[in-house]
Amino acid sequence: MTDNANLRRPRRLRLSPALRSLVRETELAPSDFIYPLFVRHGRDIAQPIASMPGIFQWSVDRLEAEARDIAALGIPAVILFGIPASKDPVGLENFAADGIVQQAIRAVKAAAPELVVITDVCLCEYTDHGHCGILNRGEHAHPALPADHVLNEPTLDVLARVAVSHAEAGADIVAPSGMMDGMVAAIRTALDAASYEHLPILSYAVKYASAFYGPFREAAESPPSFGDRKSHQMDPANRREALREAALDVQEGADILMVKPALPYLDVLHALRLAHPEMPLAAYNVSGEYSMLKAAAANGWVQEQNVILEALTGIKRAGADMILTYHAKEAARWLI
Ligand code: PBG
Repeated sequence: MTDNANLRRPRRLRLSPALRSLVRETELAPSDFIYPLFVRHGRDIAQPIASMPGIFQWSVDRLEAEARDIAALGIPAVILFGIPASKDPVGLENFAADGIVQQAIRAVKAAAPELVVITDVCLCEYTDHGHCGILNRGEHAHPALPADHVLNEPTLDVLARVAVSHAEAGADIVAPSGMMDGMVAAIRTALDAASYEHLPILSYAVKYASAFYGPFREAAESPPSFGDRKSHQMDPANRREALREAALDVQEGADILMVKPALPYLDVLHALRLAHPEMPLAAYNVSGEYSMLKAAAANGWVQEQNVILEALTGIKRAGADMILTYHAKEAARWLI
């Protein structure tokens, strides 16, 4: 019975709202979100970040109520960024037992034990030069390399100490973000040696040298004092390179892979989803992406709730299992 007359004209599904939910491919929920928190020394501080309306730097005492709020919204995890009391060439507070992040981990765990606490493991917020590693200066300087060269191996030693120190303070996941060669393996080895074999590593495996980090550098007070991060962060023009970076981190023992930023790199996220079907994938909807939508919404140029939920749905549809986003709290309120 292949009589053409019996073939029906091709047509789309036209469904009622209730039936539409049956064929919906992507469902956004508060349980998809990881909320970034900035922490600083002092008491009773909620310091607004001008370029990120609605986002604050918190003192540790104010974190407890904030952590309970986040957990009550059904958001399962936070990622902590610390602003140290003072900066130096190595970033000593980064691995101090009473460092700002170590204090914050303990405060969040005490206030909301069910919240997963992730820590960013990098040097840039702690070094006086604002770079993500140890520079080629001082007594061990290599004469053949320029003074602003980031030394990979000495940086790995510091990153390993930072990760162990976060684990000792009670972190649930460590997230190295500096794109140093071998950082995942170095951190894995150090955690295992300190009996934190169970502690997962979320690797910022694919991190672009992006202009969308601008507002974060105000929030974390971490702009490089000179130069940029193009020697170790990726060229926005490259996608195949992202697959190579991801494969290296999987080999080194990463448990979760991340792509950062999110919205301009959805093709990269999708490529990773296909290349590593077995891996959990995170996307970082970064500060500049947040500020753009908030600014447009504040001007009445877009409908705030609709654009934000659409952007987050797009990130999930492209392949993210979890989204680090400054929108987490407002989006969770809209979704529940
Ligand atoms: C590095 C780090 C950065 C961000 C997260 N971790 C800054 C950078 O790479 O320059 C940026 C996140 C954002 O823009 O929201 N510690």
